[in-house]
Amino acid sequence: MQQITHDVLILGTGLAGLRAAVEICIRTRGSADIAIVSKVQVMRSHSVCAEGGTAAVMRPEEGDSLELHAWDTVKGSDFLADQDTVERFVRTSPDEIRLLEHRGVPWSRREDGRIMQRPFGGHSFPRACMAADKTGFFEMQALYDTLLKYNNFKRYDECFVTSLLLDDGRFAGLTLLDAPTGAFYVLRGKALLIASGGLGNLYGFTTYSQTVTGDGQAIAYRAGLPLEDPEFLQFHPTGLVPSGILMTEGCRGEGGYLRNNQGERFMEKYAPKMMELGPRDIVSRSEMTEILEGRGFPGPDGLDYIQLDMTHLGAEKINKRLPLIREVCMKFLGIDPITEPIPIRPVAHYSMGGIEADIDGRTKVENVWAAGEVACHSMHGANRLGCNSTAECLVWGGITGGEIAKYLGESPKLSGLPEDKAREEEKRVFDGLLKQSGTENPAHIRRELRTLMDKHAGVYRTGDSMKEGLAKIAELKQRFREITIQDKSRVYNTNLIQALETENMLDLAEVLLFAGLAREESRGAHSRRDFPKRDDVQFLAHSMVYYTGGSPKVGYKPVTITTWKPVERKY
Ligand code: FUM
Repeated sequence: MQQITHDVLILGTGLAGLRAAVEICIRTRGSADIAIVSKVQVMRSHSVCAEGGTAAVMRPEEGDSLELHAWDTVKGSDFLADQDTVERFVRTSPDEIRLLEHRGVPWSRREDGRIMQRPFGGHSFPRACMAADKTGFFEMQALYDTLLKYNNFKRYDECFVTSLLLDDGRFAGLTLLDAPTGAFYVLRGKALLIASGGLGNLYGFTTYSQTVTGDGQAIAYRAGLPLEDPEFLQFHPTGLVPSGILMTEGCRGEGGYLRNNQGERFMEKYAPKMMELGPRDIVSRSEMTEILEGRGFPGPDGLDYIQLDMTHLGAEKINKRLPLIREVCMKFLGIDPITEPIPIRPVAHYSMGGIEADIDGRTKVENVWAAGEVACHSMHGANRLGCNSTAECLVWGGITGGEIAKYLGESPKLSGLPEDKAREEEKRVFDGLLKQSGTENPAHIRRELRTLMDKHAGVYRTGDSMKEGLAKIAELKQRFREITIQDKSRVYNTNLIQALETENMLDLAEVLLFAGLAREESRGAHSRRDFPKRDDVQFLAHSMVYYTGGSPKVGYKPVTITTWKPVERKY
């Protein structure tokens, strides 16, 4: 089997991956040989969809502070964030904003020329630096432009990674399927950064691109790396009905209201101080309560909704600060938010959990790092604050890039390659999955999985419902063994790639529900009707889920508390 070797492999070309690549280039003065691998093309990574902003303390003289940002983040996390990690994050993110400023991001500006910052949920100071409502797109562009100045990277676009190979406990290589040619080969490197993004397509109603299927988490998990806090799946309060497209929190940051079918701004009941700018877990639960108690609006396919009302903001503000939102509403629904409210409801948006990584982004495997949404640095705990995610991608992209550059400077050896495992993987994909002929259609399995996750792992959960969800996943896994992939060719076989994605999704859905069932409390985004209270005695701990080949194994590890003891969250 063909083998290609680079110094470092970066899996994923979103904000975290590109930021890491830039840092490696800077630190090694362009001498490291970098492979950047993506199942899409670089600028199609899901980070381009980030809308509302990037959090950083930019104006201490106007009342913001690092302590306040850290406190907001820890309180928002329902006290599950590791506080040393949060402290490092808030200290570093202002530098990332300045770096992107120098690299050409067209930040929105105030009258005095300084970078504009808008309010975001759960933050007690306007902290979201933004480029209108297309922040992720401009950040990606600036990073990729920077990378182009260095002539030391090779792009592996449209390459689907099927497994992560270890040798003697160290990273050895990635097996991958090159979609345009159908070739299957091994990429080897002295170091690996996994920065392949989230897993939100486990859900049917989601803000994610169809490509976000948790492949990085799944290959790492099956290779023996633990997944941390996977039960904490964030529901963003404003997903457009019925498509799920993100209506940025910036809509509420700019002054938009949420109203029920009585015309009431119901957040008054749930978060009287912060109202619509409460943290996402609380706003999403409030919306669901309104809907379940009959104060929503009837929507298509059971998607009853709440109204996001911006009609009082005026055309100028909407056109200047939220042009994408207006365009999407007009194109997808034929409504103009300048004059009409927008139908929205909670939508799967972000995974607080991921591959366990320490404060430097290092995983349990010595030469593997993780950054961005795929990772869990224990930074967001049970509930992430809006605009802390693009910031986290930049901060840990930079940190892991720096760590990898340092590691390469120590002249590490390339690990040996377990060639038998690479060949086995090729056989599994082509002689097994692709050739087999059963009665099941993988697309149906994927659709059923996403529907069941909407139903059994939603905003509100119960033990019985999660058990039912797990039983259905077991059935789907059984049926997956009987699939037929219609397209039997090798070149651009999207049927095959989607089947591999579905296999990943089945594993991750099981992990999420297993950890959710074991956590018998309500904390942040994990809200159980049968255990409605937070239980700091038993569950002030990170869930750790391990692959066993059979049912996942769940354990716990302590939360790092440096400054703030858990208290009741009030907004
Ligand atoms: O609402 C938004 O623009 C999303 C931001 C985020 O998830 O951080």
